[in-house]
Amino acid sequence: MVVRVFGFGYHSFLNEHIKKNKCKRLMEIGVYDGENAKNMIEAAKKNFPPEEIEYYGFDYFESEAHYQKVYKKLKETGSKFKLFKGDSKVTLPQHINELPIMDLIFIDGGKSYETAKSDWENCKKLLGDHTVVFVHNYGFPGVKRAIDEIPRDKYVVEIIYPPNDYVTARIRKR
Ligand SMILES: C[S@@+](CC[C@H](N)C(=O)[O-])C[C@H]1O[C@@H](n2cnc3c(N)ncnc32)[C@H](O)[C@@H]1O
Repeated sequence: MVVRVFGFGYHSFLNEHIKKNKCKRLMEIGVYDGENAKNMIEAAKKNFPPEEIEYYGFDYFESEAHYQKVYKKLKETGSKFKLFKGDSKVTLPQHINELPIMDLIFIDGGKSYETAKSDWENCKKLLGDHTVVFVHNYGFPGVKRAIDEIPRDKYVVEIIYPPNDYVTARIRKR
């Protein structure tokens, strides 16, 4: 039996969504070790050659070794990628205007209300009609509060229960 202590790792629901909906512009807030980034890119490769796939990742990357480890892992995928180092409450607003409309956004960084709210408020600027945002860990009180505040007249917000994973919000434009 697999006991999942931390709320991250292999998220099959993301990979299924990427394959089914032919996603190739992927963004992730909270990159950690880059394994999920790599898995998402591999899923996108089912429909696109690596050079057509773009990944944008935001994380503290607190040490140079952490950054380099993720950089090397993503370089090996052959896809285009950009990593943004620092607090997403600062780096997202700094860079949001230079980023394209995304196919999929996975918000999985800080779990406080302030961070979850800020990540959503910034990421929502990158939504096209087809974009889906997944916000991991709806069970965290701060994340839940930020999600519950999203206006339902503008966005379709669904709470999903992926098998062997944590409660997640799935959001798209109405
Ligand atoms: C739950 S882990 C991400 C796991 C990854 N998405 C996965 O699926 O394997 C959270 C990550 O978010 C980062 N993080 C937390 N708060 C952050 C913030 N305010 N700004 C940038 N990164 C943050 C942490 O450094 C950590 O690497």
